[in-house]
Amino acid sequence: MLKIENMSCGYGRIEVIRNISIEVGDESVGLFGPNGAGKTTLINALMGIVKPTSGRISFNGRNITGIETHEAARMGIALVPQERELFPRMTVLDNLELGCLYIPGKAEGMADRLDAVFEKFPILKERRSQPAGTMSGGQQRQLAIGRALMADPKLLILDEPSLGLQPSIVSELYGRLAEMKKDISILVTEQNVRESLRAVDRGYVMENGGVAISGSAEELKTNPHVVKVYLGLS
Ligand SMILES: Nc1ncnc2c1ncn2[C@@H]1O[C@H](COP(=O)(O)OP(=O)(O)OP(=O)(O)O)[C@@H](O)[C@H]1O
Ligand SMILES: [Mg+2]
Repeated sequence: MLKIENMSCGYGRIEVIRNISIEVGDESVGLFGPNGAGKTTLINALMGIVKPTSGRISFNGRNITGIETHEAARMGIALVPQERELFPRMTVLDNLELGCLYIPGKAEGMADRLDAVFEKFPILKERRSQPAGTMSGGQQRQLAIGRALMADPKLLILDEPSLGLQPSIVSELYGRLAEMKKDISILVTEQNVRESLRAVDRGYVMENGGVAISGSAEELKTNPHVVKVYLGLS
């Protein structure tokens, strides 16, 4: 589905990602690594926010290197950004509808997708007439994911979904993502490797703009470097 080959990118003259290769098939893939490793930058390159300086990105066989952001959305890539970017004064329902209204061809079938999102996240149905900003952090994260799903994506990208949430809410969130991966490909970045490993099939550990380790979730759970640096001894 998604294939990144030998891609480099950065900001101005500063190269952040160096020659990276990553693939996501019909599966759920984690992108782990510390602060500043380049996870968000990689995602920005996928979404056309940052332009690659070399290498190639393809999606379902089509070259999407340097694509515009709205084209990425139309092709079926949806991002739940690290900064939530909801409209806090607008209602939950309006925020959800904005997930698809302005993407060509995606407004059709909106009612059915809304039902599907409400089924996955019942709290959003309950709170649909409420301003988004009045909900709890965990509920807002559900709304951000629901909004991304309204665009009917083939690939859902989540940038550090656990950030700022209590541990119990993070577990619940990853439980839901584990269910969702049956229907949709997922690429999720995390510093919270322990929780994320429960929901992904495979993962890459990024350090200093490159892939340091990759493997199945099981392999990563027992990799000595991952255990030492990311999972701790507890
Ligand atoms: N807009 C920007 N302009 C210049 N440098 C940037 C910009 N955004 C990020 N960087 C730099 O790029 C590097 C990678 O940052 P990035 O945000 O991709 O890391 P990250 O892995 O997502 O980290 P975090 O886990 O904190 O979100 C860092 O050194 C950061 O300072
Ligand atoms: Mg980031």
